[in-house]
Amino acid sequence: MRRSIFFFIFLLIIGCGEKPPVNIYVSKEFNELSKKDIIVGESIWATTCFRCHMYGSMGAASVRNKDHFDQLAEKGFDHLYKSVLNGMEGEEGIMPPKGTCYSCSEDEIKKSVYYIFHLAKKVQEAEILKQAVGEKEF
Ligand code: HEC
Repeated sequence: MRRSIFFFIFLLIIGCGEKPPVNIYVSKEFNELSKKDIIVGESIWATTCFRCHMYGSMGAASVRNKDHFDQLAEKGFDHLYKSVLNGMEGEEGIMPPKGTCYSCSEDEIKKSVYYIFHLAKKVQEAEILKQAVGEKEF
């Protein structure tokens, strides 16, 4: 009897709850980015996003900060995309709408959001490798 009550509550939660966000790193879109998507994302990164997210200036998190980016990834693409499109107030700084790429289309902003996670993963993997081989600089 008790079991069936728990099962019922379980079903209720599953049925009524909103779909949990998909971690960006495991999302289909992230894993199927084309070379072209990456180039478009990179060009936006290199003209705007890098100013704050390369070293973590203006209260932004650096792409090297694995813990922070892992936590962001959990929020899922839709949430992150909206934050960049509309801008957001962080705890230590403000990201202006479109991450200051005002001439960017919505599609380009989407690609820049995927790109920043693509880059974060690459940079973090390089850092881990560096630690593993015990070298300070490559
Ligand atoms: C003027 C500085 C600045 C620029 C330029 C900027 N950001 Fe940000 N960004 C921030 C700050 C501050 C935050 C809040 C703290 C954090 O999570 O890094 C933030 C947060 C984020 C987040 C997390 C959003 C959330 O919901 O938690 C993502 C993703 C992001 N930025 C991507 C981008 C992308 C992509 C670009 C380029 C199109 C960009 N940023 C340009 C300052 C900036």
